[in-house]
Amino acid sequence: MTEELERFKAQALSELEAIAETGELEAWRIRHLGRKSPLTGILRGLATLPLEERRRLGAAANELKVFLEESLAQKRQALREAETARLLAAAALDVTLPGRPWPQGGLHITTQIQREVCDIFVAMGFQVAEGPEVEWDYYNFEALNIPKDHPARDMWATLWIDYERDGERPMLLRTHTSPVQIRVMEQTRPPVRVVVPGKVYRYEATDATHEWMFYQIEGLAVDANITMADLKGTLFQFARRLFGPERRVRFRCDYFPFVEPGVDMSIDCFVCGGKGCRLCSESGWIEILGAGMVHPNILRRVGYDPEVYSGFAFGMGLERIAMLRHGIDDIRLFYANDLRFLRQF
Ligand code: PHE
Repeated sequence: MTEELERFKAQALSELEAIAETGELEAWRIRHLGRKSPLTGILRGLATLPLEERRRLGAAANELKVFLEESLAQKRQALREAETARLLAAAALDVTLPGRPWPQGGLHITTQIQREVCDIFVAMGFQVAEGPEVEWDYYNFEALNIPKDHPARDMWATLWIDYERDGERPMLLRTHTSPVQIRVMEQTRPPVRVVVPGKVYRYEATDATHEWMFYQIEGLAVDANITMADLKGTLFQFARRLFGPERRVRFRCDYFPFVEPGVDMSIDCFVCGGKGCRLCSESGWIEILGAGMVHPNILRRVGYDPEVYSGFAFGMGLERIAMLRHGIDDIRLFYANDLRFLRQF
């Protein structure tokens, strides 16, 4: 019997030796280690043998089984290595070359500025709110003290949605983030302190300073005893945090139907320090936002008593802020998807 095992062993090894491809290994395994292989036959027959012989033969047969299994594993490994070497040689692949880096994404410049501006106001106790870009005439104009046929509507070249109701077209793409003032006040009672970033749309030809879609951020604070001093102090702090601790600000009268009084705020030009240069059109000042005290009509409309509550609101274009911060001279670069531009930020 042991001689038989020796023969099995010699036969199996010489066959294994001859194999040149991993695909043939399985057939070899079935032949020599499978259920119908002579070795398995011997192992199965052990039970019928006398004890002494069973021990001896059993040990030898099991040893052979383990030996063949190990030989198979070694052969498989050797073939695999040889195949890899062949493939590498065929492809002339230099595995020592450094890998190609994955392109890494980043936040869009507008998103960065939006977060930065929000963070400044959040640190002052404002919450962040959002509203729809497709808006009703009511929120975009009517509730903001801009009735139908009021000439102030000309301040916002409007993209109307093709939707008729009772012969009117009350739906539009919001022209500013101010409608969210109304939406927020409808939902809450004072005190209100929110900032509202988001996209706005204008029916306008594009040029270096105009896009038909851009971003604004709105601010609104309403409470008892809010005064113009709160407006000025808040926006002054904001300007200094965003544009540097030396900044001076200037408020001038301006008109927006939903505030009274209305102002615009400028910062002193950080390029020329106020002496006058190209950036500030020789004026020394750069206008960055519109603001004012919330008009009593608006408070009344949302059910706030203007005898008890007052507030201030402001709004600014985010791209303009980014352009000032980074010296970008054309707003059309923002959404032209040119990576050479976008990667700079
Ligand atoms: N919504 C105004 C605009 O787009 C800006 C503004 C907001 C002015 C809030 C005053 C108060 O021009």
